[in-house]
Amino acid sequence: MPVLSPQLQQRLSTPLKIGSLEVKSRVLQSPLSGVTDLVFRRLVRRYAPDSMMYTEMVNAKGLCHLKTLPKIMEVDPNEKPISIQLFDCRPDFLGQAAQMAVEEGADTIDINMGCPVNKITKNGGGSSLLREPETAEAIVRAVVQAVPVPVTVKTRIGWTDQEINILEFAKRMEEAGAQMLTLHGRTRDQGYNGAARWEWIGQVKEILSIPVIANGDIFSVETAVRCLEMTGADGVMCSRGTLGYPFLVGEIDHFLKTGQQRQSPTAVERLECAKDHLQALWEYKGMRGIQQARKHLTWYAKGFAGAGELRNRLSRVETLIQGVELIEGMIALLNTASTTSVE
Ligand SMILES: Cc1cc2nc3c(=O)[nH]c(=O)nc-3n(C[C@H](O)[C@H](O)[C@H](O)COP(=O)(O)O)c2cc1C
Repeated sequence: MPVLSPQLQQRLSTPLKIGSLEVKSRVLQSPLSGVTDLVFRRLVRRYAPDSMMYTEMVNAKGLCHLKTLPKIMEVDPNEKPISIQLFDCRPDFLGQAAQMAVEEGADTIDINMGCPVNKITKNGGGSSLLREPETAEAIVRAVVQAVPVPVTVKTRIGWTDQEINILEFAKRMEEAGAQMLTLHGRTRDQGYNGAARWEWIGQVKEILSIPVIANGDIFSVETAVRCLEMTGADGVMCSRGTLGYPFLVGEIDHFLKTGQQRQSPTAVERLECAKDHLQALWEYKGMRGIQQARKHLTWYAKGFAGAGELRNRLSRVETLIQGVELIEGMIALLNTASTTSVE
């Protein structure tokens, strides 16, 4: 069981201050395209009611031509604190989009300066902004001017190993008016490979006055504590560790607040959660929800005998009833088996 040093406990005992906004948790749920829709965020919030959550990244340019807001930007009026994340490279589009986001209920606006995907970077968005610091700065200034809520930036340590420029870049974002920086400790070239280099997060924390949130490879309470100790960061943001596991943010938050480890969910509890997820996606998105649920369901089905076969079937599920039957069948099996073995 990890141990919280008194210094760390003391450092984390106050709310996270993002400009004028106070957040009662130091553990954040990251934006994940194709994942962190309103349905997923509701599940995460069941276990982490105080945590800051993010929408999937929203294309700012696309918004200016739409009559109604896209579903990925939809925010439940009861969900707080919530940030809407935007991407593009044009300050004016981003300013306008940010205003729409605030009308929708965003407590902060986050600018994506970390996405590595070609489709985004070749149009000047995401991590390509690391190579265009003047543009990145102009974006932050424009969005700060356009909205009354705090503006934050999520980025990486650099484009390649030869171009790690996060120290200058982070300082520029702060000077332009960003109220928090989330740093994924990988380069754009790394994609999601190799270890996140938390040492860079520590260096950035030393030179900024705004909160710095550590991101990359936070998969458990242990890794969160180790990262916070090593970097001195003001909080941690969970990403891939939450795929099929919306319990993670709450588990870390609970530990940081109490020093006690929350009981991990059993396989049956995880499958119950998968069923809720499927049902809610169906209610929210209809058939598209079922299609999107397939990947989520396969992420949930892990760590018990028969999980491989279940994953295989869940990945092809066509209807709500079929999915529910598969999950309930496995729950019944697990409940009748006196012991479950790890796959
Ligand atoms: C499926 C997927 C979707 C993602 N979508 C976004 C996104 O919309 N916005 C963003 O800033 N980062 C996005 N990311 C990056 C994560 O937020 C995070 O920075 C990255 O996964 C590193 O954390 P990890 O090592 O804990 O996964 C995405 C990552 C994954 C795996």
